Amino acid sequence: MIDGKKVLFSGMQATGNLTLGNYLGALKNWLTLSEEYECFYSVVDMHSITIRQDPAELRKRARNLLTLYIAAGLDPKKNCIYYQSHVSGHAELAWILNCYTYMGELNRMTQFKDKSAKHADNINAGLFTYPVLMAADILLYQADVVPVGIDQMQHLELTRNIAERFNNIYGDVFTVPEAYIGKVGAKIMSLQDPTKKMSKSDENPNGSIYLMDDPDTIMRKCKRAVTDSEACIRYSDEQPGIKNLIDIYSACTGKTPEETVQEFEGKGYGELKPAVGEAVISVLKPLQEEFVRLTKDKAYIDSIIKENAEKANYYASKTLRKVQRKVGFPDRIR
Ligand code: TRP
Repeated sequence: MIDGKKVLFSGMQATGNLTLGNYLGALKNWLTLSEEYECFYSVVDMHSITIRQDPAELRKRARNLLTLYIAAGLDPKKNCIYYQSHVSGHAELAWILNCYTYMGELNRMTQFKDKSAKHADNINAGLFTYPVLMAADILLYQADVVPVGIDQMQHLELTRNIAERFNNIYGDVFTVPEAYIGKVGAKIMSLQDPTKKMSKSDENPNGSIYLMDDPDTIMRKCKRAVTDSEACIRYSDEQPGIKNLIDIYSACTGKTPEETVQEFEGKGYGELKPAVGEAVISVLKPLQEEFVRLTKDKAYIDSIIKENAEKANYYASKTLRKVQRKVGFPDRIR
């Protein structure tokens, strides 16, 4: 608890260009959570180097992501928006937690298996212990809730196990976090293969709408979205392409899928697709404009980076000192 509020932690990697799926599925929900919770939203740049990165590119993307959090409407005075690498406690706690995590547990992580298959030439130890760093992120701030997608549930479950294991040995040190399952509906699929999640690492750029796509590109991608030959606008798993377009339209306009279906009753795909394009453009345009404006205000963004790193460090150190005492590290002489 911080100031009577429960603590929320989440993070995104600055690798790849964020998509409409990241925005509608995660970022947009974060906005609604910031009233209720004390929120920490990290740009997890330390996680990113488990895959080889171009340094200048990583730095640029990390800054863009941090700016985007703010452009999307997260108030950086209320929400702690910061770079993971600016808070050394993440690495320090991760080391300690490494010693309370079993090889067998990490071996079971499906994301490790997937990523090591994909990057067979660089299966580094960091990739293997990635979930422990993630556990450290969360436990460092004594987070009560963590909004995560289904792909991160296994890591969150591991985090809970590590926390409980540690607490069993040393008493109540860590808050055991719960997953925050957001409102339904905002799982956005690829426009080219609607059975796959829209992903920033998709090789086919037509499958994803990127947050920085210009209106023409957005419209073109929507018009080319893969559908079916039913020629009927229904919200059904048998028509995954149409279902996805209905989901996107609904999420962008604030309507329910049922309302959207009604609106397009008797109409063809040729009407639905451009309408989806327009709806997406009207959501992304203000976001892009705010992003451009913020990017120009270097001093402001710098001040946010500095202030929030200090704030994050303050809370991180509190937990870290406690943990260090528990495991038997000598007290610091002040
Ligand atoms: N592993 C997460 C992802 O790739 C990002 C992440 C790192 C995260 N640390 C976290 C998410 C802590 C939630 C909480 O999506």
